Amino acid sequence: MSADPALLERLNRHGQSHLLRYWDELEAPARAGLVAEIEAIDLDQLDSLIAQHVRGEEGAGAEIAAADVEPIEVTRMPETDGQRALRRRSASLGADMLAAGEVGVVLVAGGSGTRLGFEGPKGTFPIGPVSSASLFQIHAEKIVALSRRHGRAIPLYIMTSPENHQATGEFLEQNAQFGLERVRLFPQGRMPVVDRATGKILLAARDHVALAPDGHGGVLAALAAAGPAGAPSCLEEMRQQGVNTLFYFQVDNPLVRIADPTFLGLHREAAAEMSFKVIERVAPDEKLGVLVRVNGRPRVIEYSDLTPELAAWRSGSGTLELWAGSIAVHILERSFIERLVGEARLPFHRAIKKTPYLDESGQVTRPPEPNSVKFEQFVFDALPHSERWAVVETDRAGEFEPLKNAVGPESPATVHQRMSDQFGEWLEQAGAIVPRRPDGAVAFGVEISPLFALDAAELRTKIEPGLVVERPVYLR
Ligand code: UD1
Repeated sequence: MSADPALLERLNRHGQSHLLRYWDELEAPARAGLVAEIEAIDLDQLDSLIAQHVRGEEGAGAEIAAADVEPIEVTRMPETDGQRALRRRSASLGADMLAAGEVGVVLVAGGSGTRLGFEGPKGTFPIGPVSSASLFQIHAEKIVALSRRHGRAIPLYIMTSPENHQATGEFLEQNAQFGLERVRLFPQGRMPVVDRATGKILLAARDHVALAPDGHGGVLAALAAAGPAGAPSCLEEMRQQGVNTLFYFQVDNPLVRIADPTFLGLHREAAAEMSFKVIERVAPDEKLGVLVRVNGRPRVIEYSDLTPELAAWRSGSGTLELWAGSIAVHILERSFIERLVGEARLPFHRAIKKTPYLDESGQVTRPPEPNSVKFEQFVFDALPHSERWAVVETDRAGEFEPLKNAVGPESPATVHQRMSDQFGEWLEQAGAIVPRRPDGAVAFGVEISPLFALDAAELRTKIEPGLVVERPVYLR
């Protein structure tokens, strides 16, 4: 049986008829699977992405003229007593939101961890400096502790990719969800991967198109997508349960202050639709998205799209003008996501990557050089669509040390040290003696489970002053 003529005609029109090259060799179920994969592709949309990102060979941010860019206003770290009192007021408002059950947490964990060189879902990586607790365990225990503190089970929504969905679910199940009462996994969508030179969609096998996750911006559509077996979408479930405000973060940063009440309060006081936590960029080449205004509108320019001139733009006093680096911690109103999904407006960026593919001879080839273009949406591109927003500064040492690489910066070694330093500082604030090396770093592994103490203030109520820490310690 030959392929459906209408499908063939459509593929011909879009220059993608090679996808049916092995049709005659396939059995009926394989044919049906391949047709379903092709039908799921929006070929008109793909044509314009190929025109822009393959033929045009243009980065999505390349067209931003330096003259249109200016710094954005940021709520800076409090320095005076008055500012600290205002932050306490915001924190109390945020605590009220948590106690009222209005807050949900969204964790994006669909990435592949290629740079880390780790096979499983990144959230399963053992990162506790003493306990070897996984990233998922550390995040989950924070939510359990926060739920207890505010007397309300905070729901956690974890975005997976189709590749790691099952492994993530199994890991959580094996660990009894780390005590979480309300947790739901939802898979993100995928986009076809195209050949970098020709724009032709790659085949992964005779009966499979090469597909890749659609970026963390896919979280918006994935939250709105119907659940398995007719279950309501995540957004619908949130609406039914009165969850209006979502704290969003990435799986790779174990220091993140999940559902930080101060941040929630500042977001609410600004009547914001989307909010960002930022830290001060210290070097022009730091791999952080940068919060700016472009022609007056707020937006993030990803580090890879920032021109060297803008990246290194300095004020008279020598500091970086565009200093607000995104740590990828956001708050989004549910109503804002619902509006965006209806309008479907996030742009796609291109990533040039190595993708194994089926070559002309029907063999799977692993290319030595990047051969393909992947299309990804970024959640921070929602910002320009928001009517009101808040950008809030946080301290790097206290809240940001992501796990990105196997060695060097942002690797297990740096994350272990930063965690031990933070917990060592909490212990010292509670009156303990913690040995430090000459460079000031805590001398060995120190770790505190969020279930023991969620912050320095709580730790103070749990330990005796004068405690001397003599060896690696894990308080739980
Ligand atoms: C990201 C941000 C950057 C920010 C920095 C802070 C982007 C494009 N850049 O950089 O602006 O300053 O973090 O650490 O986000 N993910 C998915 N699905 C996908 C792709 C990614 O869920 O399809 C998740 C990953 O699991 C991870 C997160 O998104 O939790 C970040 O992805 P990654 O590619 O590591 O971003 P970075 O380049 O590190």
